[in-house]
Amino acid sequence: MIESVAIIGAGASGAITAAALQAERYFKRIRVFERRETAGGTWIYDEGVSPAHLVRPGALPADSDPRLEIPSSLPCVSPPTKQNRYHETPIYELLTTNVPDIAMAYSDIPFPYGPFVPHHIPRQYIENYFSAHRIDSLLQLNTTVEDVSKVVAQSPEKADGWNLTLRQHDPTQNLDIWWEESFDAVILANGHYSIPYIPQVKGLDEYLEQFPGRVVHSKTYRKPEVWTNKKVVVVGNSASGIDVSRELIQAAQQPIYQSRRSKGRWDGDSPPAGMVWKPIITEFLSSGRILFSDGSYLDEVDAVIYCTGYKPSFPFWNEKRNGRLIFDYQENKLINTYWHTFFQDFPTLGIVGMPRVLTFRGMEYQATALARLFSNRLSTPLPSLAEQKNWEKERLERCRREHLKFHDVPWGGGQTTAWFQKLFDFAGLGTLAGDGRIPPVLDERTKWAIKHIQKYKPANQDSEANNNDQILYHLFEQRDRQLEGPIQ
Ligand SMILES: Cc1cc2nc3c(=O)[nH]c(=O)nc-3n(C[C@H](O)[C@H](O)[C@H](O)COP(=O)(O)OP(=O)(O)OC[C@H]3O[C@@H](n4cnc5c(N)ncnc54)[C@H](O)[C@@H]3O)c2cc1C
Ligand SMILES: NC(=O)c1ccc[n+]([C@@H]2O[C@H](COP(=O)([O-])OP(=O)(O)OC[C@H]3O[C@@H](n4cnc5c(N)ncnc54)[C@H](OP(=O)(O)O)[C@@H]3O)[C@@H](O)[C@H]2O)c1
Repeated sequence: MIESVAIIGAGASGAITAAALQAERYFKRIRVFERRETAGGTWIYDEGVSPAHLVRPGALPADSDPRLEIPSSLPCVSPPTKQNRYHETPIYELLTTNVPDIAMAYSDIPFPYGPFVPHHIPRQYIENYFSAHRIDSLLQLNTTVEDVSKVVAQSPEKADGWNLTLRQHDPTQNLDIWWEESFDAVILANGHYSIPYIPQVKGLDEYLEQFPGRVVHSKTYRKPEVWTNKKVVVVGNSASGIDVSRELIQAAQQPIYQSRRSKGRWDGDSPPAGMVWKPIITEFLSSGRILFSDGSYLDEVDAVIYCTGYKPSFPFWNEKRNGRLIFDYQENKLINTYWHTFFQDFPTLGIVGMPRVLTFRGMEYQATALARLFSNRLSTPLPSLAEQKNWEKERLERCRREHLKFHDVPWGGGQTTAWFQKLFDFAGLGTLAGDGRIPPVLDERTKWAIKHIQKYKPANQDSEANNNDQILYHLFEQRDRQLEGPIQ
C-alpha cells in the first residue's frame, strides 16, 4: 500500500501530478520538492544568466551536471554549494507560447486568454493551479532533491520505497541545510530543458578559448538588442532557432545566418527577408573563420548562437543503489519505461512530462494514470513485464526505422491520441464517492484548434488563411465561454 508520494519539481508536470494525487483522497503524505523560489518551472523568467559557463561542446549531463557530494552524516548544514545547478530557465523576453491555449491548459481551468500568450501567463497559471486546488501547502520550495535511492522492502508483500536527500539553501544564514525523507513512491517531474547541448565541432574548443563569449547557447538568449549591428550565426532550426533568428532581424547586422541541419516544418523554399541559410558548421579556424559543409565560409563573425536544444539530466539518480542508469544518452531515451510514464522494474516510480507532445494535456493523462496506479485503483491493470518490455523494444525499432525520437509523440498520424487513449484507459473513472480525477475528453474544438491555430505559418499557407483561423477561433472561444459561464 502506497501512503506517501514525493514529486520532484513544481513546473507544469509537478502541478498536475500533485492535483491528481490529491484528488485520489487516498495518500497520507504528498510532498512537492522544488529547487526554485516558486512554482512555474520553465515559465519562470530569469533576467540575468551568465552565458559563458554554459558552453561545453559535446558535453553530456554526466559531465556538465554531476551529482553533488552528499555530506556523510545527515541532517546537517554546510557552506552553500558553488556548483552550477543550471536552475535558470531559457525563457526570453518576447517569448510567447506556441500551442493554442485550449490545448496547453489542463482541462479544468482555462488560460485567461489565447491562443498564444506571453510567457508570464503559463507561469501565473501554474502557480495559481496549486492554490486553486489547495495543494499549495504540499510545496517545499527552495529545496533541491540531491539523491533518490531505492529502499529495499522489508517483506516480500511490500514494494520497495525511496529515500530522498534534500538540500535547502538558506540565504539569510548563507548555508545549505541537508536532511532526508522517505516515501513509498516517487514521481519525477523535473523537466528536461535545463542542460543546454552544443555539438562537438572541429576547432570549437580552441575557438572558445581564443574568442571568449563569442559562442553562446539559446538558453541565455534574452533580447535581440544585445546583438545590435553584430554579424550573427544562429545554429539550429527548431523553435528556438526560428524564434531567435527572426527576432535578430530587427537588431543585428543583416543578413542573419541560420545554420540548418534539416529543413523545418515551417520552411519555405527560401529564407525570410534579412536571413541567409547555411548548412551545418564543419570547422572553426583559429583565424576566426567558420567553415560550412558546402565549402562556404564566413569571416569576422561577432557571435554564434547555438539553438541546438537540451539534454535531460537526473543528477539525483543514485545508479549504484538503484542498480542501473536511468537515461540512455546514446538512444536519447529513458531506460525500461512503459508508455513514457511507468517503469518496468520500479513499480513505485513514475515520470511525467518527458514526451514532446501536447504538453500540459499530455501531463494530465500521465498524472491521472500514475495517481490511479499508486492508489491501487487502475481501471485496467498494467500488462505483464514481458508485454511492457515488448512495447519498449517495438517503439525503439520503429524510432530507428522511421528516424523518430523515442519520446517524441507527434500529433500527426494519430500517435498522440493513441498515447492519450492508453493512459485514459488505464486511469478510467474514479470512485462512486468522487475520489480521483477523471481523465479529460479530447473534444473536437481542441482537435480543431491544434490543427488550424498555428503560431508559425507553414510555407504553403498564406497569412490571410492563418489570420482567419485565429479570428474564427476567438469567436468559438467567446461563444463557448459565454455558454459555460464563470469558472466555479
Ligand atoms: C524556451 C521554451 C519554450 C517553450 N514553449 C512551450 C510552449 O509554448 N508550449 C508548450 O506547451 N511547451 C513549451 N515548452 C515546453 C515546456 O518545457 C513545457 O510546456 C512545460 O512547462 C514543462 O514542464 P515540466 O514541469 O515537465 O518541466 P519544467 O517546467 O522544467 O519544471 C521542472 C521543475 O523541476 C525543478 N527541478 C528540477 N530538478 C530538481 C531537483 N533535483 N529538485 C527539485 N526541483 C527540481 C525545476 O526547477 C523546475 O521548476 C517550452 C520549453 C522551452 C525550453
Ligand atoms: N514557445 C515557443 O515559441 C518556443 C520557443 C523556443 C523553444 N520552444 C520549445 O523549447 C523546446 C526546445 O526547443 P529548441 O528549439 O531549443 O531545441 P530542439 O527542438 O531540440 O531543436 C534543436 C535544433 O538543433 C539542431 N541540432 C541538434 N544537434 C545538432 C547538431 N549536432 N548539428 C546541427 N544542428 C543540430 C536540431 O536539428 P535537427 O532538426 O536536424 O535535429 C534542431 O533544429 C521545444 O519543446 C520547443 O517547442 C518553444
